[in-house]
Amino acid sequence: MGSGVYNDKVVMQFAVMTIVWGLVGMLVGVVIAAQLAWPQLNFDTPWLTYGRLRPLHTNAVIFAFGGCALFATSYYVVQRTCHVRLFSDKLAAFTFWGWQAIIVAAAVSLPLGYTSGKEYAELEWPIDIAITLVWVAYAVNFFGTLAVRKVKHIYVANWFFGAFILTVALLHVVNSAALPAGPMKSYSAYAGVQDAMVQWWYGHNAVGFFLTAGFLGIMYYFIPKQANQPVYSYRLSIVHFWALIFTYMWAGPHHLHYTALPDWTQSLGMVFSLILLAPSWGGMINGIMTLSGAWHKLRDDPVLRFLIVSVSFYGMSTFEGPMMSIKTVNALSHYTDWTVGHVHSGALGWVGMVSMGAMYYLIPRMVGRTEMASKDLISLHFWTATIGIVLYIAAMWIAGVMQGLMWRAVNEDGTLTYTFVESVKATFPFYVVRLLGGVLYLAGMVLMAVNVWMTISGRKREVVAIPAPAHA
Ligand code: HEM
Ligand code: HEM
Repeated sequence: MGSGVYNDKVVMQFAVMTIVWGLVGMLVGVVIAAQLAWPQLNFDTPWLTYGRLRPLHTNAVIFAFGGCALFATSYYVVQRTCHVRLFSDKLAAFTFWGWQAIIVAAAVSLPLGYTSGKEYAELEWPIDIAITLVWVAYAVNFFGTLAVRKVKHIYVANWFFGAFILTVALLHVVNSAALPAGPMKSYSAYAGVQDAMVQWWYGHNAVGFFLTAGFLGIMYYFIPKQANQPVYSYRLSIVHFWALIFTYMWAGPHHLHYTALPDWTQSLGMVFSLILLAPSWGGMINGIMTLSGAWHKLRDDPVLRFLIVSVSFYGMSTFEGPMMSIKTVNALSHYTDWTVGHVHSGALGWVGMVSMGAMYYLIPRMVGRTEMASKDLISLHFWTATIGIVLYIAAMWIAGVMQGLMWRAVNEDGTLTYTFVESVKATFPFYVVRLLGGVLYLAGMVLMAVNVWMTISGRKREVVAIPAPAHA
């Protein structure tokens, strides 16, 4: 597989599982979207209830789909930019099988109702320990490869991957600190408002480092490669890197506006969120402007379209986020579907599309081809996904602002204009439109799976078609 010089086996394994877990995680997303419109779809079965399937969805899309994409791309990029094979094949295999085992443990334990109750960190302590072990192996392998590199310079994509690996280790260990109270039960090491603060320091940096820094590593390698152009500004990429990682760390309290958290802490979170707009947009400009002078390539290259549109969604959600962090805006948006719309413009538009673009670049190369089996299918995927995202986020924005306005509307005598259930009823049509958007996005993923299958099996046919030399 691949050139033989590099460890491409592990890259391909993670790439294939990116597609598999993408299908699973998004299917669960579609199921919970349907349940929000028609709650009876839980069929009165405990493990099919919304409360258990929702964390299954978030864990599957973030850590299984997104995680496998990050493992695949970081292993691919670090070898090629350092001109060496991975530091250790054994550690690479351990990270692959370990990560898959953790995902399966999550997929079983979450529907059974085992949860620590911390968002994006729901898994119970034995699984948390397993995550730590796999992550340490990943870090040793990644930084070990950097240490034995044959190229003096460390390409900027590796800076982002490295920051992602180090920070996620720190976040996971601090936020998951807990006192076990049984084989699948534990109590957080923190109490009260400190617990909330640590949780959202974790939660926001999970966005900043898991859903952003690692994927920026993807952007910095795969856009220049696919466009066949150098990065727009190397200097900007370094400023972008340091400004982003410094600022993200302080923005967590914007998740806790108007809570028992000290007011100055909330304001600090808001200010750092506003500052965050600058490095985020610096990164977006660097990604998009890499195409300067070569915009025409977008017309007939659907892979590049995936990559560039993903960066545009990144710009959009990192404009929206700082706005939502302003306390008075958050007073309207918090608790509403606006937040869910914001999440999915980042998740479907940025994380999803940049991963798909990278996989379309990488998978054919892993099987000795230069392109995917069908360019038309990639194009169809692009449009299905884009229309799906637009339906999803537009529905959530309208629903969110509507909910916020309905909840705060008061009559002249000071009583509420609307009952809560009236806002739920008014949201119903938007939940149906969101479901439709989700189904389209999932359908695009199915097209991708078919195309990947054709690409891998087509290679076998090509190999079979080559006549064997007479002496063989
Ligand atoms: C077919 C595609 C998808 C559909 C239909 C879908 C649907 C949903 C639904 C219905 C929720 C619950 C919203 C609520 O609690 O009101 C949700 C939450 C969430 N989803 Fe998705 N999703 C999809 C893809 C993704 C992807 C690819 C990602 C990440 C890469 C993602 C990340 C999240 C996150 C982080 C949340 C929690 C949001 C919050 O707490 O505000 N989703 N999704
Ligand atoms: C400059 C960058 C960003 C800022 C300042 C920001 C800010 C915010 C704010 C203020 C909220 C609402 C908090 C609340 O009311 O509870 C939020 C929620 C969220 N954002 Fe962002 N955002 C940014 C970028 C992104 C990106 C790029 C993604 C995804 C890839 C993302 C994913 C999320 C998620 C998952 C939540 C929901 C958390 C939860 O309640 O479960 N954000 N963000």
